[in-house]
Amino acid sequence: MDRIKIIGGVPLNGVIPISGAKNAALPLMIASLLTGERLTLKNVPNLADVNQLVRILRNHGVDLAVDGKRAGSGVLLGDTFHLTAREIVDTTAPYDMVSRMRASFWVLGPLIARMREARVSLPGGCAIGTRPVDMHLTGLKQLGAQIDIDSGYVVARAPNGLRGERITFPKVSVGATHQVLLAAALAKGETVIENAAREPEIGDVASCLRKMGVEIEGIGTSTLHIQGRDQLDGAIHTVLPDRIETGTFAFAVAAAGGDVLLKGTRYDLLSAAFEVLRETGAQVEEVSEGVRVTRNGEGIAPVTIETQPFPGFPTDLQAQMMALMARSSGTSVIRETIFENRFMHVQELARLGADIQLHGDTATIKGVEDLHGAQVMATDLRASVSLVIAGLMAEGETMINRVYHLDRGFEMLEEKLSCCGARIERVREE
Ligand code: UD1
Repeated sequence: MDRIKIIGGVPLNGVIPISGAKNAALPLMIASLLTGERLTLKNVPNLADVNQLVRILRNHGVDLAVDGKRAGSGVLLGDTFHLTAREIVDTTAPYDMVSRMRASFWVLGPLIARMREARVSLPGGCAIGTRPVDMHLTGLKQLGAQIDIDSGYVVARAPNGLRGERITFPKVSVGATHQVLLAAALAKGETVIENAAREPEIGDVASCLRKMGVEIEGIGTSTLHIQGRDQLDGAIHTVLPDRIETGTFAFAVAAAGGDVLLKGTRYDLLSAAFEVLRETGAQVEEVSEGVRVTRNGEGIAPVTIETQPFPGFPTDLQAQMMALMARSSGTSVIRETIFENRFMHVQELARLGADIQLHGDTATIKGVEDLHGAQVMATDLRASVSLVIAGLMAEGETMINRVYHLDRGFEMLEEKLSCCGARIERVREE
């Protein structure tokens, strides 16, 4: 299995292009199941999760053409995908495909909406808590689906098709909102989703569905009104920039020091995290080409934060924030409110010399003067990249083992960092 070697202590200077958002590209690709027409998606990142979803969609009968090359074969940033689901040939999403990536469970809604039946394995994904799908299933039931669980599969039927309904989620869920939004696009009449997630990736999917002919009001708010249609059109849509990749590199610059332009991203996707970054002493500036982050010389100030649904501080940046705080000049407190058990990075950061105490959902981080390179293990997607940030700050060599998690969500991570001066390389193992 590949490893990543980092020699820390080098500041980052230069330009990092930000890729299309994984968490938008995945549901946008799934939206192709809703129509027999062609859906063209631009700026799709080349990631293991995207390639895994391609396999799943192909199994359902989706035809994929990638401009000028095969899916997953290229190194250029931002692929253009042409997805056409003229005929759905299989309504089953099998365990060996779905268990590797939680978002693939979202094929359920579109399959029932279009084919009136689906059999989808209960999902897997990062081990960051129990992550149930009860709200997905309740939402689809409210739209008229009959749902049974059989041998680890969700078996859903809607012989008369889905019909619009008012759905109030008991808590904010990105996945449940995507699931119901996608299904409602082909339901009869109006669906209202109350307490919908407001993450920009939901807005991106809703904008694409609008281009496909669905009337949607309330994009960006917690109440979505969706007028379903019998058939949807094709569309051309550009995936929005990845705010988690943006934040990760912004934190990396704050950690290592330097001056980097994060090109092609948008400040408004990540205002809360940028505010926190400023509190730590970094400079963050919205510029015409993206966002510029600088930190020169001075120390890192401690902060107190808690993770929240958008527009709050994202849980997907919690681990990276903790890595940065490991070298702050005081005591920081980070509370994780979205996922229980999303602290697997703590013991790995400790191997590099971080001083972190855990009590329930709260981590208290006493900044240390120096981190020291060590062997560490990547445990989940965001935890892995927090080790990269820590490695950039640490003295000497850090070796990150089991980096396949990184490849699920970060496109050309080593290349992007080494272009800015970082001493980072992949050690390939046969
Ligand atoms: C998505 C993101 C993930 C991010 C998370 C929160 C993708 C592909 N993944 O994950 O990167 O960390 O949003 O911003 O976009 N819950 C239930 N019942 C449900 C569904 C969720 O109790 O039916 C709970 C979860 O256990 C969790 C909380 O709701 O505690 C939020 O989860 P959710 O927003 O659904 O996360 P995902 O969609 O899985």
